[in-house]
Amino acid sequence: MKPTLQLTLSLAALATTASADLTTTIDPSSNRGTWEGWGTSLAWWAAAFGSRDDLADAFFTTKTTTLSGTSVPGLGLNIVRYNAGASSTTSYNGSSMAVSPKMIPSRQIEGYWTNWASASPSSSSWNWNADSAQRNMLWKARDRGANIFELFSNSPMWWMLNNHNPAGSDDGSSDNLQSWNYNQHAVYMATVAKYAADNWGFKFRSVNPFNEPTATWWNGKTGTQEGCHFEVKTQASVIGYLRSELNTRGLSGTIISASDESYYDQAVSTFNGLGATALGQVARINVHGYQYADGKRDTLYGLASGKGKKLWQSEYGEGDATGQRLASNLLLDMRWLRPTAWVYWQAVDGDGWGLVTGDNGAKSISGVTQKYFVLAQFARHIKPGMRILDGGSDYAVAAYDSANRKLVIVAVNWGSAQYLNFELGKFKTGGVDGAVVKRWTTQIGSGARYVAASDTKISGTKFWSKFEKNAVQTFEVEGVVL
Ligand SMILES: *[C@@H]1O[C@H](CO)[C@@H](O)[C@H](O)[C@H]1NC(C)=O
Repeated sequence: MKPTLQLTLSLAALATTASADLTTTIDPSSNRGTWEGWGTSLAWWAAAFGSRDDLADAFFTTKTTTLSGTSVPGLGLNIVRYNAGASSTTSYNGSSMAVSPKMIPSRQIEGYWTNWASASPSSSSWNWNADSAQRNMLWKARDRGANIFELFSNSPMWWMLNNHNPAGSDDGSSDNLQSWNYNQHAVYMATVAKYAADNWGFKFRSVNPFNEPTATWWNGKTGTQEGCHFEVKTQASVIGYLRSELNTRGLSGTIISASDESYYDQAVSTFNGLGATALGQVARINVHGYQYADGKRDTLYGLASGKGKKLWQSEYGEGDATGQRLASNLLLDMRWLRPTAWVYWQAVDGDGWGLVTGDNGAKSISGVTQKYFVLAQFARHIKPGMRILDGGSDYAVAAYDSANRKLVIVAVNWGSAQYLNFELGKFKTGGVDGAVVKRWTTQIGSGARYVAASDTKISGTKFWSKFEKNAVQTFEVEGVVL
């Protein structure tokens, strides 16, 4: 399902060179859900940079901020995933955490429940001062308008694990959570959610007790980060405990999301294996995008929508700083997976993985990737509450803002430089003839970062714009009636 351009050059388009080389028709009768937003997971980068207002401004506002000498338009992310840590350095009753020899220190997240002596959050078994930097970034995001919060876990607390090692089990492919601690992991997550509701100034909308649970790379001997394998039947048990522990604490409105599998196909398999009871307790399917161009996105969408569940692309990342892979996989997601939210993994990281390039260990920022600006095209324009429409092709995404009668289209030109033509003739009113269509351009790789122009106009029921090869453009059309 890699994006392949259908180069259907019509004779009419060739005859009038000012017109388009490629046409897509936006379908106003389509409805791919109400957009919930764009986000990032906190975890490592926030634990390193939790005091940085400039990063918070860049990610969680839409104002212009300067980062490493580069002026950036804020992404306006409104979804924040907060990682309940698994690590603590204090011993209890002769036991202490085991650490993978390959563990990267900046990827150890301090957990709140430091020993098993007491489940009472006011007891000395709980350290609510832990992880202050990540929490600080959480609050900065909240103060800037982020309004959807998810609590997730990469691994249960070390002392709940067979080998006491939050990087994973000894072989990576077997469960690490001790069977007598299934409920304790649920108590941990529910207690953090309750403590946040009482003390942190917001409620988590969702809690996910797993991260890539089917993966077999969570290995205590070789792991570089917190992680934990869970068999599907173990997931089902923990989900049941979590539902009741949330309810007991007055959080019956806090939903469970699961299972944050790495691949679309694993998510399908887990969905089919959880069983009716546990599946009934999962209100939203979260999936990660690490299968990239492969995998049955549409099958997962069919399963989730068939059971009336929301579906999020809850984690995406790769090392391509150009933004090319982000753009192509995001287009695939919007066309086949149809999530109602899309969350990038680490907003700051090295090796092309960050939107902003930084070193979490050294706590230094060194630049802004072109990928940042590619994401800005989508995240600054397709906003929460908009209805996602069928963009009519594999290179365009469309969204409609009914309150403002505004149509947003984001399109990518993978081919040679050409005109892309957008046909709005199926709308009741496809914009006002002659009216300006505002547009923004980002060049994948390098070049234009986020350049605004007002030189495009509606002509009849369509408009067009010249795209360089690998250019992303966003259009905002006013006065559109579905
Ligand atoms: C402490 O460790 C001892 C020896 O392993 C064990 O018998 C006892 O139950 C433990 N106590 C607690 C509170 O875990």
